[in-house]
Amino acid sequence: MAKVATLDDLFLDELRDLYDAEKQLTKALPKMAKAASSDELRTAFESHLEETQNQVGRLDQVFEMLGEKATGKKCAAMTGLIKEGDEIVSSTDDSSVRDAGLIAAAQKVEHYEMSGYGSARTHAQILGHVEAVSLLEETLNEEKQADRKLNSIAESVVNEDAMSMAGNTNGAKTRRGAGPKTRSAGSTSRE
Ligand SMILES: [Fe+2]
Repeated sequence: MAKVATLDDLFLDELRDLYDAEKQLTKALPKMAKAASSDELRTAFESHLEETQNQVGRLDQVFEMLGEKATGKKCAAMTGLIKEGDEIVSSTDDSSVRDAGLIAAAQKVEHYEMSGYGSARTHAQILGHVEAVSLLEETLNEEKQADRKLNSIAESVVNEDAMSMAGNTNGAKTRRGAGPKTRSAGSTSRE
């Protein structure tokens, strides 16, 4: 592994990590969309796939501005997060419980990306790569928006449906709206 000695090296390393992360995600999102049982969730995954492809394109532009080759560096974190999502799918039936698990897994992905883009954007700022800052910021905002969208799907449909599925004892035959207010697993940044 090449030595990361300067902030320039670190910035490039972060970009390569994000590049690989996004590429892994472009392969995982179609599978997540296919596994989703809620139409709303499927559509959210499909539209985030399109965004993710654009995000790869933005990183291509950043590499070009820096005069660097657009190559990724294996992002072990994304591999692990995607694997956890796969495990949710294989351990659940096609149901709102699976959807709730898929949302939780996808929000972990979004939060990872939000922190990655946040750091890369800040480092670009320090290094004076003005155009890179705005490209990275654009993607950062898309990731935040995707996270909020997942939260609202969880809150509006999926969690309550999952609660009302047979097997949730708690004594109650929970009707939609009758149970306690449910929240998605992820924390939302409402900025
Ligand atoms: Fe992304």
